[in-house]
Amino acid sequence: MAGLNHRRTRLTPAIRELTQVARPASRQFIQPLFVSESATAREPVPGLDGVWRDTPDSLLQQITADMEQGINKFLLFGVPATRSDRHFDHAFTAAQIAAVKAEFGASVWLAADVCLCSSTSHGHCGILNSSGDQVENAASVAELSAAALLYAQAGADCVAPSDMMDGRVAAIRQALDADGYDAVVIMSYSAKFHSGFYGPFRVAAESAPGAGNRLTDRATYQIDPARPDDALQSSQRDAAEGADILMVKPGLPYLDVLTRLSDAIPLPWAVYQTSGEAAGFNLLARAGLGDRARLNVEAWTACVRAGARMIISYDARQARDWLGS
Ligand code: PBG
Ligand code: ZN
Repeated sequence: MAGLNHRRTRLTPAIRELTQVARPASRQFIQPLFVSESATAREPVPGLDGVWRDTPDSLLQQITADMEQGINKFLLFGVPATRSDRHFDHAFTAAQIAAVKAEFGASVWLAADVCLCSSTSHGHCGILNSSGDQVENAASVAELSAAALLYAQAGADCVAPSDMMDGRVAAIRQALDADGYDAVVIMSYSAKFHSGFYGPFRVAAESAPGAGNRLTDRATYQIDPARPDDALQSSQRDAAEGADILMVKPGLPYLDVLTRLSDAIPLPWAVYQTSGEAAGFNLLARAGLGDRARLNVEAWTACVRAGARMIISYDARQARDWLGS
């Protein structure tokens, strides 16, 4: 009797192509973009090769270039020039959304990140109480839903709350529907962990909680890596509140969570391959210890294997070249 023979189905590229199960393709990718109000010329993001903090002008050029690379789905982070404790101006980010939509219309799918950490004087994702040791949930949610509505009015196809306040999905859904934006998608960062893999992002978004704060980190609102059940519960909650797309973030260190949650909740799942993950691959490649394309393709394959239907990656604009489709 013949034993198990995998060598036959691994022998040629043709038979390997025919037998693969998890196959990421560039159409599943979302490219993050940063646009800064204070930058006078576009600036590279440290650690993220080929990623920039754009000016309003260079943002449009970047999107044009990305579309030539087969990427037409974006997640925009606006970085306004002014910061405040309690009174925020979301007009800069809204204006960038409107400009992208005026230029590219429906040929681009544009998600807008909704958070306050690039706008608060202290870098937290919400509004702090007067003693500065707690994030106020209700006040933060009210501000986040106001921002989400402005972004929808500016033409965003999707709003993506990344703040991790309780109840923000319900509040945003209600604000959008009440103003006629029932077609705008909510992609919730429903399983976002308190992670060390966010370093380059915080430089790009100017969103690191400052060392001078009484509250020095995001542990009181982001999920503890040692409490995976919290991720299931908050994702179930966000689904019940009306989220259309759920997300696990970061990617590789949380593939167990992605597998479990995507099995449990039949909504489309996104995975966010964070800035720290991407920068790690870039460092390996620069040291001659790994191939950047191969590292990314392997990580993306793992994400799809674990249940991701879409991938937010700083290297999305390379996906078609690296994946061949
Ligand atoms: C904050 C936010 C973070 C990311 C997106 N929005 C992380 C954080 O500072 O907690 C992570 C992005 C990345 O590292 O790529 N609202
Ligand atoms: Zn934030």
